[in-house]
Formats: sequence, C-alpha cells, structure tokens
Amino acid sequence: MLKNLRRAGDGNEGRSMQFLRARVPESIQQIREAAEGVMRDIKHMFGVKTLLNTEDRRVLEQIIFPHFLNDQSFRSILFVGCDWYTRDYNNIFEAQKKYITLDPDLGKRKYGAKQHIPDKLQKLDRYFNSGSLDLILCNGVYGFGLNNASEIEQAFQACFDCLREGGVFVLGWNDIEGWCPFPLHHSKSLALFKPLFFPPLKTDVYVTDTSYGHTYNFYVKCYFWSQNLKCLSITRFGR
Ligand SMILES: C[S@@+](CC[C@H](N)C(=O)[O-])C[C@H]1O[C@@H](n2cnc3c(N)ncnc32)[C@H](O)[C@@H]1O
Repeated sequence: MLKNLRRAGDGNEGRSMQFLRARVPESIQQIREAAEGVMRDIKHMFGVKTLLNTEDRRVLEQIIFPHFLNDQSFRSILFVGCDWYTRDYNNIFEAQKKYITLDPDLGKRKYGAKQHIPDKLQKLDRYFNSGSLDLILCNGVYGFGLNNASEIEQAFQACFDCLREGGVFVLGWNDIEGWCPFPLHHSKSLALFKPLFFPPLKTDVYVTDTSYGHTYNFYVKCYFWSQNLKCLSITRFGR
C-alpha cells in the first residue's frame, strides 16, 4: 500500500487513489478474517466449540453423525474437506472410531484429524485398500473445489472402490443454480451405488430447510446393485 501511496506523486494521482480506495476495503476484510481466525484458534485452545449455526449443520451434527456414531458396524470413517467449523468433529469421532480427514489444501491441515491426508479425493485409492472404509462423509466439496466432471467421476469412483460392501457414502451439496458443476444423475460412478433409505430422516435424499437447498444424498455400496448395472449396460450398450 505504501508503494502505491508514493506512486501518487508521479502524475498518476487519480488512478493511484482509485486503486487505493478499491484496495482498502479488501485489506480491511482480510485483516478482519485473520483476526476472526485468531479468535477461533484461541477459543479452540480453551475448548470452546467453533461450529456453524445453520439448519444443514444441525441435520449433519445432530441427526446424521449420531446415527453412525452409535452404529458399531461403522468403524473406519473418512471425512472429506476440513475447515474451522469442522475441527470439533475430530474429537467427537476420534473418541469412538478410526477417523480420517482429507483435504488437498495444506492450509486446512490444522483443522484435520490426527490421521489426515493432504490430497484430493480423486487420489483416495493411493491411501486405502479396496473395501477398507465403512463410511465416507463428503459434505460441501462437490461444487466447492470438486467442480470438474472428470474429477468428480474419479472422486466418486475412488469412494466406491475404497468402501466395503455395505459401506455408506453421504454426499452433502447445495442444490442451487451455479453450485452444481455437473448433474449428479449423469454420474456413472455415483450410479454404481444403491440409494440408501436413511431411517432417521426417512428418505434417501433429504433437502434441508436452507436458502441454498443444502441436500444430503445417502448411498450404499451393494455388490448385486452394481453388478446388475454392469449387466444392464452390457445388454443395452453392448459393452
Ligand atoms: C466448503 S469446504 C467444506 C468443508 C467441510 N467438508 C464441510 O462439511 O463443510 C470445501 C473443502 O473441500 C476441499 N476440496 C476442494 N477440492 C477437493 C478435492 N478434489 N478433494 C477433496 N477436498 C477438496 C477444499 O480445500 C475445502 O477445504
């Protein structure tokens, strides 16, 4: 900023001042965000929870999480994508489960679990054997970094491969224009899963009461379902 102030004397005063005016709010915003981040870190150090207070989080934290925490058949759990508001999930899950987080952004490491993978979901099979996970929670990643059709297909396929038979894939996404990079019903890898009726919400697709249509889709890996699908595609398309 100082550099630009000095430049104001070199005959470009008008442009420099315009630049400065445009930059100041941005800098203030950055300072505010950094200060908020420090405050959250301090709160976390003192054991104060830092969670988001929205309806979709309520459904995730108070309905979806307890169901899987209480079910002993779900032991190895992967949570995809971390941020300050997911940091408190680590203690909750680590106390009872083998809990792993994954995020390619190295800056998010500090919000991850003790077992954290700094990589993209598409690369999941580099870290897990086929059939080794019981549950994958992938919330707010489709449309928030996972945006390209081929990357989305690779990511869902990797999830399918790494889940065990009967393993569950939960996809949380915003059903709103501009946030859906690629129609989910076009996804071939997602079609390998069988839609799962999730008893606590009495459906396999639950749309939360939010302005951004945050939706939870529940899927289960089911051998006969995917085999039938393969047979169907062979008979229909001759592959
Ligand atoms: C909006 S945050 C969602 C955090 C969290 N999962 C939640 O419940 O809100 C999106 C996160 O997804 C991560 N991300 C982006 N692309 C990804 C990919 N290909 N694989 C895994 N994570 C990705 C980003 O780095 C970011 O931290």
